[in-house]
Amino acid sequence: MTDWLKTAVFYEIYPQSFYDTNGDGIGDLPGIIKKLDYIKDLGCNALWINPCFASPFNDAGYDVADYYTIAPRYGTNEDMRELLRQAHERGIRVLLDLVPGHTSIEHEWFKASMKSEKNEFSERYIWSGCPWERFEGVSHVIGGINGICERGTAAVNFFSTQPALNYGFANPDPKKHWQLSVDAPGAVATREAMLDVMRFWLSMGCDGFRVDMAHSLIKNDKDSVETIKLWQKFRAVMDKEFPDAVLISEWGEPDKSIPAGFHMDFLLHFGPSHYNDLFREKPFFSGKNQGGLQKFLAYYKDIRNKTGDRGMVCIPSGNHDMSRIAHKLTPHELKLAFLFLLTVPGAPFIYYGDEIGMRYLEDIPLVEGGYERTGSRTPMQWDGTLNAGFSSAPTNKLYNRLDPDKNRPTVKAQAQTQGSVLCTVRELTRLRQKNTALQNAEPIEFLTEGNAGEALVFERGSGKNKLYVAINPSLKAVKVPVLKGKSVLYAVGDGKGEVLQAQSAVVVG
Ligand code: NOJ
Repeated sequence: MTDWLKTAVFYEIYPQSFYDTNGDGIGDLPGIIKKLDYIKDLGCNALWINPCFASPFNDAGYDVADYYTIAPRYGTNEDMRELLRQAHERGIRVLLDLVPGHTSIEHEWFKASMKSEKNEFSERYIWSGCPWERFEGVSHVIGGINGICERGTAAVNFFSTQPALNYGFANPDPKKHWQLSVDAPGAVATREAMLDVMRFWLSMGCDGFRVDMAHSLIKNDKDSVETIKLWQKFRAVMDKEFPDAVLISEWGEPDKSIPAGFHMDFLLHFGPSHYNDLFREKPFFSGKNQGGLQKFLAYYKDIRNKTGDRGMVCIPSGNHDMSRIAHKLTPHELKLAFLFLLTVPGAPFIYYGDEIGMRYLEDIPLVEGGYERTGSRTPMQWDGTLNAGFSSAPTNKLYNRLDPDKNRPTVKAQAQTQGSVLCTVRELTRLRQKNTALQNAEPIEFLTEGNAGEALVFERGSGKNKLYVAINPSLKAVKVPVLKGKSVLYAVGDGKGEVLQAQSAVVVG
C-alpha cells in the first residue's frame, strides 16, 4: 500500500460551500487555501475536493464541460497549482474528483459527437443512430431533442444532461452496430482521453482521485468483469507514471473495486453494506432510537476478509449525497460516532461541517440538481459574523441557504468549548496519529455482535501493540469485562472501570 495512505485522515470539501474570499456568495480555491491551517489543526492530512472544473452545474459540477480548466467561479488553474503547493507545504495530500463515466452535454466532445456528420468524436458517446431504438444495458437515455440528438438516442449515466462516455459493452450484440466491444478503437480512444485527463492533474501535483460512479464505465457488464479489467489498466498506468498517487472509488463494493485496482473504496448509503445502520435510518449510535448493527458488521467483516491487505474499506462520516450525520444524532451521540469513525481501520473521511455537527436542512429549495441532497450542502459555519463567516456577500446571494438556527454550531464557538464535537474530533485524530494500533492498515477484531443495548467492543492492532475500544450508545449502563484493569487513553462520557455508563465510550490500552 502507498505509504502515505497508512496514516491518512481525509476531509471532504464541497467547494461551493466552504469559504468565499471574493464576496460573490460562492466558495473558491483561495478560500480552501485560507483554511488549510484549520484543516491541519483538525488533524486531517488529506483532502478530497468535489469537482471544480468548468461546468454548467446542472449537477453541482458532476457534469464536466472541460476536464482541463478550473471553473472560473472557483478561480484558475494557477489557483489550483497554488492550492496544491500550499497543501503539500503543510503535509496535506489532495485528491481531485474524477468523473470518467459521463460529461455535460456542453462538453466539446459531446457537441462534436451529436453531429450527424462523422468525426473524431462520433463514438465518444453511445448513440443508437435511430431515435426509435431502445437500449438495453443502460438505465436511461436522451433522444429526440432537436439540436442535441441528431444521432438518435444517447445513453445517459445519471441526469439527462450527463451522457455516458463510451468505453464499450461487455458482450456487444452483433446486431446492434452501435454497441462497441471494449477494445474497439472508439472505446480505446475514450480510455486514452481519460488517462490524459488524469495525467494532466497528477503532473500538476494532485495526489490522486476520488472516482465518481467508478462501476459505471462498461455497459451490459454482468458482475463488472470488464469494468474491473478496465480499471486494472488505469491503475497499471498510474503505478508506472505516478506511483505515489491513489484512487478511491465511489463503488461501494470493495470486493470488486479493490481487485479492480482501487486503493480504497467507500461503504455508502447505497449498495450492500448496511452503512445506514451506523448513523442514519435507525442508527446504532442513537440512544432513543437505537437499531442493531449486526448486518453491517457481518458485511464489514466479510468484505475485510475478502479484500485483506490489498486495499482499504473506508467509512465516511457522510458526503454531499446523503443526509448529514447530525440529522439523527444528538451532539453527544456525534462524539460517540466520531470515536468509532476515528478508531476503525481504513482511511477516515470527514465531510466538511460534520466535525461541528452541522445540521441537515430538510425541504430547502433545490440548488444545482441537489434535490434532497441540498440540505447537506449548506455554507460552512465558521463564526458568529455575517453569513456565519462564510462570505461577505448579501445573504440572499449565497450559493445555498444558511442554517437559519440562531444557535447553529460554529467553528469559533466550538474551538473555545472544551468537550465540544470539534474538540473531540481534534483529540481523536491526534489519538489516532499517536497510536499505531489505531491506524489505517492495522487489524480489527470485533468482540461483540453489534446488538442494540450492548456495547460495541473491538480490538485494534496486533501482538503487544493492542488497544481496545468500547462504545455504549444505549441509555443503560453495561458491563464490559475486557475493560478491567486497563488504562483509559480516551473517554467520551463516563468511562471508568469495567462498567461503561449510558452513552459513553472509551479507548483503553
Ligand atoms: C455521484 C456523485 O457523488 C453525485 O453527487 C453525482 O450527482 C453523481 N455521482 C453523478 O455524477
